[in-house]
Amino acid sequence: MEQDKSRLLMFRLRQETEPLHKKIQELPFFTALTCGTLPLASYVNQIRAFAAAFGTLEHETRSGAEPSVRAVLDAGESRFTHLLRDIACFGYKMIPEIISVKRHADAMAARIRLLSIEDPVSLLGYIYVLQGTVLGNRVHLPDIKRTFNVDASNGAAFYEGYGNRLSDYWNTFVNLMNSFTADRAVAGRILAAAHEAFGFLQDIHACLFPLPAADGMTFTSTSLNPEAGNHAVPADEREIAAAITSGKLCREEFPYFDERYGERGKRFTDSDAAWLTTLTALMPPFIISQVVWLSGVLASRGMPRITMERQLVYLHKELGKTVPEKQNEYDKLLGAVSWLEKERLRHIGSEVFNSLCQAFIAKTDNELGGRMKNTASLIVSAVCDEKSGIEMAVPGLEAWLTDAERFNAAWCSAVRETIAQARSVAV
Ligand code: HEM
Repeated sequence: MEQDKSRLLMFRLRQETEPLHKKIQELPFFTALTCGTLPLASYVNQIRAFAAAFGTLEHETRSGAEPSVRAVLDAGESRFTHLLRDIACFGYKMIPEIISVKRHADAMAARIRLLSIEDPVSLLGYIYVLQGTVLGNRVHLPDIKRTFNVDASNGAAFYEGYGNRLSDYWNTFVNLMNSFTADRAVAGRILAAAHEAFGFLQDIHACLFPLPAADGMTFTSTSLNPEAGNHAVPADEREIAAAITSGKLCREEFPYFDERYGERGKRFTDSDAAWLTTLTALMPPFIISQVVWLSGVLASRGMPRITMERQLVYLHKELGKTVPEKQNEYDKLLGAVSWLEKERLRHIGSEVFNSLCQAFIAKTDNELGGRMKNTASLIVSAVCDEKSGIEMAVPGLEAWLTDAERFNAAWCSAVRETIAQARSVAV
């Protein structure tokens, strides 16, 4: 009986990686987490590193030809999605990136990408290690909640994982993994991949805490202050022109931008659109996490995430028109559009979303005769963002939209009522 068990993939994985698991648990990162002294920067950089790993894994295996890998990943909800939700919540805090962590995380992502081409079945080793974190995260969830004052809906989605469905999930996962009949050589490669994955995570966690000196941290594209205006811009002038046109179209769709932010808003939409264009050179999961980060920052400052969704739609269209030979690259932006859209409609379905907007339009004389068109969708979207854990999303918009010096009383009460109604139906 014992002999049979020892041939099972999960048994071997567990037994052979146990010393690595133990070594990782003993890292100062986890001691600090348990003691409640882990700095927020360590936590946020951990989320970013896992987002790079899970995002790459989930993306690379989606189209892959290896059914076993697909089947195991499909057994549970996307953990990349959980990580993106957390990234959105911390965006506004402007937390710098730990350079060494990013280097190890990029190396891990690159290795996952290579294996997905050269030896996809060995990715089962990576999946084992990465998905195994649902168990350890469960242990540390209370520490995360206590230390950072967060919960599953505002910054701890990754640690919450599958919540009370965890044991069902893990049983399914174990059974699936054990159902694959890996011959000796294949099992050996899966085990080697699991060792590798633990190695990367060991390096990442060793660099996460204690935090490095200031020159070991940087504001790069995932963390820079969008107000600083030092974005990368595309080298191709045609792309810059397309980005500027898309910014203009977005501002026309939402006159709120010009009314509220004036010239400064114009500069930002132009530079944001230009920066978004440079993202098309990245792999899709990296594009999505960057977009989620920036849209979270902007939502906290009064620009609900629906504006990013629309901006990307315009940008995709304009870029495709202007530089058609790069259409394939531009199509990668659509992954971010659909992530944002799904995330918005997760809280308020499209029918209810539209009816809330219609009611606002009716109450405000067609949004002040069109002068403030599409404000309704900004308001309802801000409530969806708030529900996603972006705490400042509604206050960032409401105060300006209900300023009695700017708007009449009917408008101001329609804004408040719509917010209250949207909050009451949001799930
Ligand atoms: C990056 C860090 C970590 C990784 C990659 C990781 C990975 C894993 C994996 C792959 C498993 C599945 C083991 C199995 O085959 O049953 C597991 C289980 C587990 N991990 Fe971790 N882990 C990490 C950190 C931690 C930490 C810090 C703790 C602290 C308490 C922890 C506690 C657990 C527990 C309690 C289990 C369940 C073990 C059991 O059922 O006997 N893990 N982890």
